[in-house]
Amino acid sequence: MDRCVTESLPILELVSVTEAAALAGAHRMGQGDNEAADHAAVEAMRAAMSCLDLRGVIVIGEGERDQAPMLYIGEVVGGGDSRQVDIAVDPLEGTNLVAKGLPGALSVLAVSEPGGLLHAPDIYMDKLIVGPTCADHVDIRHPVEENLSAMAKAFNRSVGDLAVTILDRPRHADLIARVRAAGARIKLISDGDVSAAIAAAVRGTGVHAVMGIGGAPEGVLAAAALRCLGGKVQGRFWFRGDEERERVRQMGVADPDRVFDTDELAPGDEVVFVATGITDSDLLRGVRFFGGGARTHSLVMTRRTGEIRFVDGIHISDRAKAGSILL
Ligand code: FBP
Repeated sequence: MDRCVTESLPILELVSVTEAAALAGAHRMGQGDNEAADHAAVEAMRAAMSCLDLRGVIVIGEGERDQAPMLYIGEVVGGGDSRQVDIAVDPLEGTNLVAKGLPGALSVLAVSEPGGLLHAPDIYMDKLIVGPTCADHVDIRHPVEENLSAMAKAFNRSVGDLAVTILDRPRHADLIARVRAAGARIKLISDGDVSAAIAAAVRGTGVHAVMGIGGAPEGVLAAAALRCLGGKVQGRFWFRGDEERERVRQMGVADPDRVFDTDELAPGDEVVFVATGITDSDLLRGVRFFGGGARTHSLVMTRRTGEIRFVDGIHISDRAKAGSILL
């Protein structure tokens, strides 16, 4: 068998990359300054990445080269060249959430062998995201009522016992009305559909699907997570004009209007997904500061080995102030 590219990836060092971004972003929580929070997280993630022994190409990042000074699409990151990988990042997923101190913000990255993550431009994508129980029972091309009733059957419960997460946006008025009319419950969120996607794929979080239009890069990151957790992400680009359709074509997608499945959004065999909570979410605690340090909570998953780890990180910056750590 060929040597697996991500086989010996330093998993804990990857976690330290999202931890660094989360810590930097969390310092700006509630300050009302989106730009400062985003900048701090991006800078911290970039610095942490330079310590990794890999050569990574950013395929999803902060934007095109002329828009973003760091972590732009095509930037080569890492401090070594032993492994060549593609990397998708969102140092601050839920910038508004951090600026307002609201739940659901994460720092996220996904790594794969080259070609293992779709190059999606920063435009919108209509998405349907469910966990493993419903993965074979729903399709974004079907009416929402049909999907809800198939989900209820798969869970052996009634539609009224399902909860769907939807971004609270005027563009979702019709979707929200139809989900309500079908009898399902809704969790409206102001931002952060990657966190919502992960929650939908894990039993016990109380949510069973994410529906509606959010960022396309977030769709790829969600697909990377669900390649590891099981479940389904279906997405189709949602264009606001022909120029956006053309951008997708230029990124090598022959038919921009088609539906992409999980393994087309994140086709890699060796996907690794890492997220650290910035503010509390369904699955991860946010950063908690204490005298002389901080505590982080992360999720790191490797598709090939099937490992899913929650990492409780304690970061001591001043030993004299920190005293003894809490269990
Ligand atoms: P950012 O943190 O990059 O701003 O993204 C937050 C987010 O809420 C995503 O989770 C979601 O996919 C997207 O923005 C929705 O976009 P919009 O706010 O334009 O509806």
